[in-house]
Amino acid sequence: MAIIRDDQLDIISHSPEQTVRLGARLGKLLVPGDIICLSGEMGAGKTVFASGVGQGWGTLNTVTSPTFTVVHQHRRKGDSQRLHHLDLYRIQNETEVDSIGWEDILDDNGPVILEWPEHIRDAIPTQHLWIAIRVIEVTRRNLLMEGVGKRYTHLLNQFREQTFGV
Ligand SMILES: Nc1ncnc2c1ncn2[C@@H]1O[C@H](COP(=O)(O)OP(=O)(O)OP(=O)(O)O)[C@@H](O)[C@H]1O
Ligand SMILES: [Mg+2]
Repeated sequence: MAIIRDDQLDIISHSPEQTVRLGARLGKLLVPGDIICLSGEMGAGKTVFASGVGQGWGTLNTVTSPTFTVVHQHRRKGDSQRLHHLDLYRIQNETEVDSIGWEDILDDNGPVILEWPEHIRDAIPTQHLWIAIRVIEVTRRNLLMEGVGKRYTHLLNQFREQTFGV
């Protein structure tokens, strides 16, 4: 892990399992309204990370690739929150995302995870956590996490402390 700036975290994951564990650490910290953007090419590991987020948050069912449905919503025991997981690969722009109820998702009581967030860049709330995943080798990935806004620099600091103890 490298600490470049207070609002950034640069991590290497050495396996899918490690990426899941990192996601789970983050998932435990999420609160309603949190926006998590997962960018990266096909097969980078966005869904692998999202499945970890789901585990940590406590979804009753496993978070999988929502390729054909765009939106997957998950519940957990103990509260009425919903975790929204969107795959925007097939969504071309901000206008199209309206047709899948984007405003309702933002208004809903739960965190939101986005794959291919760059497809709707202008529709994403200005404050968010942006995670760029990059393939280094067959099983190695670089995760560059950036917190934009006060909530997300705080979230990133919490994540850093709980994952790396610093
Ligand atoms: N360190 C790693 N972290 C995450 N995934 C890894 C890692 N090493 C290898 N992989 C593999 O890379 C693939 C990542 O697939 P995944 O479905 O998460 O990609 P994606 O970014 O969601 O792609 P898409 O844009 O098609 O949705 C999986 O097959 C996974 O096993
Ligand atoms: Mg995916």
